[in-house]
Amino acid sequence: MGVVENSKLCVVGAGSVGSSLAYAALIRGSASEVSLYDVAAPKVEAEVLDLAHGTQFTNARVGGGADLAVVEGSHVIVVTAGAKQQPGQTRLELAGTNAGILEDLLPKLLERAPNAIIVLVTNPVDVLTVVAQRITGLPANRIFGSGTVLDTSRLRWLLARRAGVTTSSVHADIVGEHGDTEFPLWSNARIGPVPILEWRGSEPFTRPELDEIAYDVRNAAYQVIRGKGATNYAIGLSGARIVEALLGDEHAVLPVSTVLSGIRGLEGVALSLPSVVSGDGAHPVAETPMSADEEGLLAASADAIRASVATLGM
Ligand code: LAC
Repeated sequence: MGVVENSKLCVVGAGSVGSSLAYAALIRGSASEVSLYDVAAPKVEAEVLDLAHGTQFTNARVGGGADLAVVEGSHVIVVTAGAKQQPGQTRLELAGTNAGILEDLLPKLLERAPNAIIVLVTNPVDVLTVVAQRITGLPANRIFGSGTVLDTSRLRWLLARRAGVTTSSVHADIVGEHGDTEFPLWSNARIGPVPILEWRGSEPFTRPELDEIAYDVRNAAYQVIRGKGATNYAIGLSGARIVEALLGDEHAVLPVSTVLSGIRGLEGVALSLPSVVSGDGAHPVAETPMSADEEGLLAASADAIRASVATLGM
């Protein structure tokens, strides 16, 4: 898909995730203008300069800095600012610190770009999506989290490699919390048109093997963080993909995290379900089929997120 003319993305936070997301958006042509904002002037100015030096090879403009003016005119704002997981640390343990950052930051961002759609990436992304919607009062479709788009990409990569097919022929989603209670919707997972447990293209998938794959997806970030201190490339690409669906008004179905208002009896909690992402933001697909077991897992995911939100008193 070509670059959408006069489309501006602002990435807030010039750490490894934010700068990777800006870089991915430039390369993919997610927006015609990419702006990077951070309070740390030397860091953000260096990141912008380094990105700008490569713009001869991209179809987009890049800018940014430590002045909030760089947020102005943004159609989409992606928030990556905040503390990141340390080795062995859960995402939920970051809630208090990062909620405080959002409380200060979000009003300032909306003052500069009042009509922007806001995508949270900062962890714990589901908890912070609830907090961000409360802080801003924006409708749930206009402020949502990257959710399990990244986890779903991890799942599809593992399944494709195992089945010997290209990733785009794997239809399987991770839903729920972007975190330790996430789970795959095996009940409607397919390789091409074939239900996953009926696949005979290579070695058939066994149930224990699927459980192992789900474990590997759930623990992927811990594994990468142990080795390199952070994850950044895949979340950067996942964020750029969400931006494209927004700016391109694609009506693409992506498992982003939105504050639910009644789907499967869930109210006021944010978690990922397959959602239609378009110029209007994100709308969860209420009729996403689930087995009884999967409905139980979704409720458990919601409980974990709700409990973490409750500790914040916000
Ligand atoms: C991860 C971070 C983005 O899953 O939560 O890599």
